[in-house]
Amino acid sequence: MSFRTFLRCACASSLLAIPAAAAEVLLADFEGADYAGWTATGTAFGTAPARGTLPNQQNVGGFRGNGLVNSYLGGDSATGTLTSPEFTVSQRYLNFLLGGGAHEGATCVNVLVGGQVVRSAPGRDDEFLNMATLDVGEFVGKTARLQIVDSATGGWGHVNCDHFVLSDTAATPPLVTRVVDTSRLYDETFRPQFHFTAQKGWHNDPNGLVFFAGEYHLFFQHNPYGREWGNMTWGHAVSPDLVHWQQLEHALWPDRMGTMFSGSAVIDRDNTAGFQTGKEPALVAIYTAAGGTSDESKGQPFTQCLAYSNDRGRTWTKYAGNPVVPNVGDGDRDPKVFWHAPTKRWVMPLYVGEKDSAKKDAKGNPAVRHVCHFYTSPDLKVWSFASKFAEELFECPGFVELPVDGRKRDTRWLLWGANGDYWLGKFDGRVFTAETAKLKGNYGANAYAAQAWDDLPDRRVIYLDWMNGGKYPGMPFNQQMGFPVELSLQTTPDGLRLVKWPAKELAALVAGAESVNVPPAAGTHVLPAAAKELLDLEFEFQPGTASQVTLELRGQKLTWAAATRELNALGRKFPLPPAARSVGRHSEKPWDDSVRLRVLLDRTSLELFGNGGLAAASFCFVPPAGQSASLTVEGGSLAKARLTVRTLKSAW
Ligand code: FRU
Repeated sequence: MSFRTFLRCACASSLLAIPAAAAEVLLADFEGADYAGWTATGTAFGTAPARGTLPNQQNVGGFRGNGLVNSYLGGDSATGTLTSPEFTVSQRYLNFLLGGGAHEGATCVNVLVGGQVVRSAPGRDDEFLNMATLDVGEFVGKTARLQIVDSATGGWGHVNCDHFVLSDTAATPPLVTRVVDTSRLYDETFRPQFHFTAQKGWHNDPNGLVFFAGEYHLFFQHNPYGREWGNMTWGHAVSPDLVHWQQLEHALWPDRMGTMFSGSAVIDRDNTAGFQTGKEPALVAIYTAAGGTSDESKGQPFTQCLAYSNDRGRTWTKYAGNPVVPNVGDGDRDPKVFWHAPTKRWVMPLYVGEKDSAKKDAKGNPAVRHVCHFYTSPDLKVWSFASKFAEELFECPGFVELPVDGRKRDTRWLLWGANGDYWLGKFDGRVFTAETAKLKGNYGANAYAAQAWDDLPDRRVIYLDWMNGGKYPGMPFNQQMGFPVELSLQTTPDGLRLVKWPAKELAALVAGAESVNVPPAAGTHVLPAAAKELLDLEFEFQPGTASQVTLELRGQKLTWAAATRELNALGRKFPLPPAARSVGRHSEKPWDDSVRLRVLLDRTSLELFGNGGLAAASFCFVPPAGQSASLTVEGGSLAKARLTVRTLKSAW
């Protein structure tokens, strides 16, 4: 049956099981041969209502009559929207039948007024359609549209619905769903406020971190066309201070050699490649052309290529002699180039998948070992293989030199893989020799593919990761970067270790600092000062007789246990033994035998630095509405405790 803007339906009481007196307007019931005036985009909805369960779908039930909206057409991966004609909101409630995925903002029914989403109801991970109600009383008399959204591509990436009725009676208690606000750029409901995000679309790895002429450059893996990974380009942003970012035009677009995968950028100070045209040195990007990842590059291999810029990174020219490193293994990628002054050579650690025919993968094909090859070059154009670090390493190798305990003449090289695991050792310009076993660089759930600014005038090494896997329902963007951290090496009783500490530039965002008096006695202490959205918080305690200490911030629990000397952070284990005052870094004078935790809390993320940065963990979360903070001490009392709460401003 067709869409009707105004049909008083006298018999609806029996259909909806609501009082007979209810004044009702049937907006749509999807019984006809087409969508009758609704507009479909994408492929998930097809051109006409479904007649029930679609191929490969679990049984769909609970719809009314013979037809319904079912976006499983083409499976979970298909996406699209279905938008109604305009109607006047004439009753207080919108009653309808709803099933499908529970992805807020991504598998849902929206009510649009003035083009903005004013109400939204996600499915419930159930193929059965149940009655749902939205209170639209606030908009009575206004013109609205319904919009059915399926932008989710994974499990439960579809929505089912049917029988939309405006009524003066709620069929079920009205859903109190958070209305996702996307109207204010950089202040949308789930937009991180002091972490980098792309304006729109998906992003993953940081690329080409370089500092030039007063600007930190951040290139990033970006999909300009969608909220999921794909169509990789290099997005580009610049910052004067690592905190305030301005997104610029894209730097690198896909070509016939492939889409643009991760890589690095350098300042060619001595014009070794001959790309410089003006007085300033050229910036050179060394990236992976991912052949075969687009129609245009079908059949091409993964290779390493160059592009250069003579206008401070604003426009880029691809080198005519590309590629500079041919395909050597399986999916070789993520070149991280730097100048090695002692040997006067460029060095390129490169991730290479080596086929190991002695071992088979699940499909019986030769297994692939993920290792790091080192290449060297005098001019960025001609590269020779130097050595291979054969330990299994994830993608995106990172490689920097750091002073030991701050001593400039005693250095070690730090090599890491995409999951943050790292080794420390020596490097002679050609061969890296590890002196440690593989060590863990991040204990959280959301840290990947870090790169570092390693050529800074102040000699700091600043590390930036992608907080992979966060969820940002209904947002125009998807994913965020971590907060930049400074790297250093420190000798500990366990040996030399990497220390990560938030870059000092965060201070620019501090709006206020407060020392909070924390009673060390057992019990729960509410912490109004920490019940804020954006925080830089430092907590230190000597455990005393307490067996357990829980800091809860915005519904995220951090529980330290005396028995394990670990923190259970959002379900993950994080080593946090009481430590000597000399361990790690600390903004104030630390106590001995104390547990120290620094927390950076943004709208959708939480980063932990334990014992002055000796352990780090990164987490993303979808924030609950409202703020709360508390500290619970159990089993005894703390010997000493102190809490410093710094509230932060938005960087946007
Ligand atoms: C890591 C990674 C890289 C690759 C890029 C593609 O997240 O898989 O190895 O270059 O992402 O977007």
